[in-house]
Amino acid sequence: MAAVEKIQTASPKQTAILSIDGKNVILPVYAGSEGPSVIDISKLYNETGYFTYDPGFMSTASCESKITYIDGDKGILRYRGYDIDVLAEKSDFLEVSHLLLYGELPNVKQKQEYNRTITLHTMVHEQLQFLFRGFPRSSHPMAILVGAVASLSAFYHDSLDIHVPEQRDLASWRMIAKMPTLAAMAYKYSIGQPFIYPQNDMGFTENFLHMMFATPCEKYKVNPVLARAMDKILILHADHEQNASTSTVRLAGSSGANPFACIGAGIASLWGPAHGGANEAVINMLREIGDVRHIPEFIRKVKDKNSGVRLMGFGHRVYKNYDPRAKVLNKTCMEVLNELSFGNEPLLNIAVELERIALSDEYFIERKLYPNVDFYSGIIYRAMGIPSKMFTVLFAVARTVGWVAQWKEMMEDPKTKIGRPRQMFLGSEPRTFASIEKRT
Ligand code: CMC
Repeated sequence: MAAVEKIQTASPKQTAILSIDGKNVILPVYAGSEGPSVIDISKLYNETGYFTYDPGFMSTASCESKITYIDGDKGILRYRGYDIDVLAEKSDFLEVSHLLLYGELPNVKQKQEYNRTITLHTMVHEQLQFLFRGFPRSSHPMAILVGAVASLSAFYHDSLDIHVPEQRDLASWRMIAKMPTLAAMAYKYSIGQPFIYPQNDMGFTENFLHMMFATPCEKYKVNPVLARAMDKILILHADHEQNASTSTVRLAGSSGANPFACIGAGIASLWGPAHGGANEAVINMLREIGDVRHIPEFIRKVKDKNSGVRLMGFGHRVYKNYDPRAKVLNKTCMEVLNELSFGNEPLLNIAVELERIALSDEYFIERKLYPNVDFYSGIIYRAMGIPSKMFTVLFAVARTVGWVAQWKEMMEDPKTKIGRPRQMFLGSEPRTFASIEKRT
């Protein structure tokens, strides 16, 4: 039996002792600037012959990072030390992307230069439209996005050398700048409309909405309230430390793979309904419920373990409190619906009532299940006229900044090693090969 004991040594540093097979192994304990300390088990296998076992990485810190801090119990999310609600209220997405990438909010001159740099990279290689045209029109836009982003490595050879800092920067800017263009192209393609080119006189989010909704036939004026709401949504989704897609990007990148392919891998991971696909699942769920009168029956199903039904947009691996992003979105949702005169949006009424009932129900209270970022984002997107298949694509547009910042941090960390988890093998012991005629 292994027993772990945390002890305070004479030095300011803590250590932990693991007793196993009659031997005491001293494990260093490191404290971060905030949050739980970590027990360094990297030499455990060498010293004991044992691996640790942690499916789903429930207690495992996979890296050091200075980018994003979450305290799930208190409902805190900070980018580089700034609270998320303050950034959503006072900053803008490109400023936040500068903060995530470089550690500081830009000053006036840096902001002008950075915005200009990103703007000059928004256009994609003209050949890429033929890649899009190879997909069936009915394709899920996430399927197109996975392929389109990974394919950027075939077009931009001058930003593939991961060992050259300037090339890493160039690849990062390209991905941040081109993602809205590719996302809008995926949407336009799915509805059979011509692609709209980026406009350099527009801001990042305004440009994105323009590429989504303009047509060559008439002038399209972006509603500033909607542009601001979208900008806030992008800020809220920009990073979330070592979640599944970010860990995917880091793991893919740890082998030295090219950055565009790594982000493609992140998009694939984000697509799942337990991660970025939840916002689409929330709208499908609200549609399925259909009427506030059906909510009690739906909640009964959610609480029945055999039904396989979950309350989508509720619960989080890290937040055991109200997701701070959901708080901002709740307010933004009301602002957007007012602006669009959708005060009586039936899906919003169902969502509000669902939240009220769930927050007072013992099942959800006991398990600390609160609304997460996806609970309200889908309602906002829907009111803006964005189809549910595009919701996760918008998440990807925002999260690209976080993926790129985390990838860059990893590439600049001299301690980075190829990611290679171990396993507990439960398969067959050695067997004798039988030729086919002797097999039963
Ligand atoms: N509805 C009903 N029960 C739930 C839910 C839910 N949404 N989430 C968790 N539970 C229950 C679960 O059944 C389990 O109960 P018990 O202890 O009786 O077995 C308990 O709560 C703990 O659940 P878990 O699955 O062990 O928790 P987890 O940390 O592995 O899962 C989660 C986190 C986000 C996958 C999960 O809460 C979930 O599936 N939520 C719905 C999907 C969703 O909204 N995802 C978006 C996450 S936020 C955006 C992002 O980060 O991508």
